[in-house]
Amino acid sequence: MKKVTISTLNKLKSDGKKFASITSYDASFSKLFEEAEVPVLLVGDSLGMVLQGHDSTIPVTVEDIAYHTKNVRAGNKNSLLMADMPFMSYANVHDACINAGTLMRAGANMVKIEGGGWLCETVRELTRRSVPVCVHLGLTPQSVNVMGGYKVQGRDQSLHDSIIADALALEEAGAKIILLECVTKELAEKITQALNVPVIGIGAGNVTDGQIMVMHDVLGISANYIPMFSKNFLEPTGNILDAIKLYVKEVNDLIFPAEEHTF
Ligand code: KIV
Repeated sequence: MKKVTISTLNKLKSDGKKFASITSYDASFSKLFEEAEVPVLLVGDSLGMVLQGHDSTIPVTVEDIAYHTKNVRAGNKNSLLMADMPFMSYANVHDACINAGTLMRAGANMVKIEGGGWLCETVRELTRRSVPVCVHLGLTPQSVNVMGGYKVQGRDQSLHDSIIADALALEEAGAKIILLECVTKELAEKITQALNVPVIGIGAGNVTDGQIMVMHDVLGISANYIPMFSKNFLEPTGNILDAIKLYVKEVNDLIFPAEEHTF
């Protein structure tokens, strides 16, 4: 696979082509994801749940993400690598810059932060300091204690409108990717069409430019439960490399996510 950069993803968007991405936490899987030609990897703070066994992402630290980012980078030089900034690591602009520096030095090409329009200043300052930023909107798992659970976002009009306004403001502030989690397909479509930057979805229907999945869900090995918006690709294929290749193909061909995986 040729080296993937943000320009590659912008071109895919402008050509109307879909792309797949997946979470990754170690060198062996990352190597295999390169072989399967997955253009974007995320060292997600979901590692707090799928690797560490917590019931939320809140206990994850910058050191945890940096450690896994180094391992993922060691196994894969060509996928675009995003690293999640964990809970409270970007509570103010100064901390965001210091902690993003740690993750970029560990091998990330971009950092991801969760929130809304309040992050515009952080996005602007990180971008000014040469750190590309992806902003995660919709269901933001670090806010589980404020949201009162993991729920679909944007069904009521005021939240629907504010997520659109936030996405536009964050693009204007410099965000290079917007990631939407668990929003209605209708909302995801409006945002994907309104923005110039690529939009990646999870539980947002097949209308976004890219899809992302937690690798444990794609392989049907999640410890707790399999979300309704995910699919086990290991079952029909029987081996990991073919499962990931099938995931990539179904995203590229608009087969996955299907209506049954969509809000
Ligand atoms: O942490 C993570 O794995 C994520 C994905 C669910 C997008 O943020």
